[in-house]
Amino acid sequence: MSPMLADLEDADRPAEEGAAVRRVTLLGGDTSFEVEPGESILAAALRANIHLAHDCKSGTCATCRFRIVEGAVAYVEEPMGLLPEEAAEGYGLACQARPLSDIVAEAEVRPALIAEPERHTAIVRHVGPLSDEVMHLVLEVPEEVASTYRPGQYLNVVVGDGKVRSFSMASPPNGRTVDLHIRRIAGGQFTSNRLPGLTPGEELEVELPHGMFFLRADDFRPLLMLATGTGLAPIKSILQSLLDDPDCPPVTLYRGARTEADLYLDDEIRSWADRLADFRYVPVLSRPHPGSAHRTGYVQDAAAEDIEDFSEYGIYLCGSPTMVGAAKSLFIARGASINHIYADSFLFQHNLGR
Ligand SMILES: Cc1cc2nc3c(=O)[nH]c(=O)nc-3n(C[C@H](O)[C@H](O)[C@H](O)COP(=O)(O)OP(=O)(O)OC[C@H]3O[C@@H](n4cnc5c(N)ncnc54)[C@H](O)[C@@H]3O)c2cc1C
Ligand code: FES
Repeated sequence: MSPMLADLEDADRPAEEGAAVRRVTLLGGDTSFEVEPGESILAAALRANIHLAHDCKSGTCATCRFRIVEGAVAYVEEPMGLLPEEAAEGYGLACQARPLSDIVAEAEVRPALIAEPERHTAIVRHVGPLSDEVMHLVLEVPEEVASTYRPGQYLNVVVGDGKVRSFSMASPPNGRTVDLHIRRIAGGQFTSNRLPGLTPGEELEVELPHGMFFLRADDFRPLLMLATGTGLAPIKSILQSLLDDPDCPPVTLYRGARTEADLYLDDEIRSWADRLADFRYVPVLSRPHPGSAHRTGYVQDAAAEDIEDFSEYGIYLCGSPTMVGAAKSLFIARGASINHIYADSFLFQHNLGR
């Protein structure tokens, strides 16, 4: 049976297909586990102590994307994080997919090298503006924590009632502090109500490290990176970790911002050209001042103007969910391999119920 996307609610499937226990076997090993009726593949894997890669658990971040080699799955609701092109190529999202048959799948298991997230008390060391809308927050965290995350990962700030807000580490691991770039959201519980009043020495509860957006060092392709807004943060952490590395592949960074004023740290980014063997930096403004000397438009369109064939790149996308979705569709249509696109969508926490 070929992979399919279906709506469980308008099918008579539950009585027949959905009501049976199904077995999922992971390709390339002898790992398999059972999925109870109504259970998602991710939930069943975690219950069996198999740590499939995942993040939001709500069908939006696409971290749990897996390839269906044999069998078919269905969804209660079509997940936001799965493009029709990806579903057509046999990909699914494990946190939402319910098996309709036994499944053979290729899925990313959380690498053993990735540290498990833990809660820590962080001390505020600096709060200051990077631009009109973006604040720089520097937190001191225990040494082992500030050394062990992977560039590109994020942390959660606990804001009360067990709710958290996610922010990517903008600095590579240095054993002392982590830098965050935080856009102020009007009415935002943390970014507007708490952040501006923070002072050095104050404590914040944080959980880290989180996320599967990090450099895949075994993917030797030239790096094509697109960042919008504070999506620059994890890209900065990754690229700073590659400075002076003779094995660093060629890097092209397209950076999307609205106006010139939003291009914070522009000079610092340009200076990386001295320490990366082959680095191209292209800022792209969506609302430029009249007569701007910068590229204008949307960042994914600028990349598509410059690059005809995306098949040779390892592609890293970070920032607004709109950019991430549009860039994926555009680049896949021009030959990008789904297996070599890594993305981090900056979703809004309250929509995730976190
Ligand atoms: C993995 C991950 C990493 C992230 N990294 C960063 C980062 O490095 N820097 C950063 O600035 N943000 C980042 N974000 C986004 C950030 O977590 C959210 O913007 C967060 O909700 C802000 O918290 P808040 O309490 O201020 O606002 P909330 O109280 O959560 O939201 C208040 C209102 O603003 C809306 N809103 C929230 N965020 C946004 C937004 N980004 N754009 C438009 N409207 C919004 C909400 O829908 C809500 O109506 C990341 C998100 C994820 C999932
Ligand atoms: S964990 Fe499945 S889409 Fe985010």
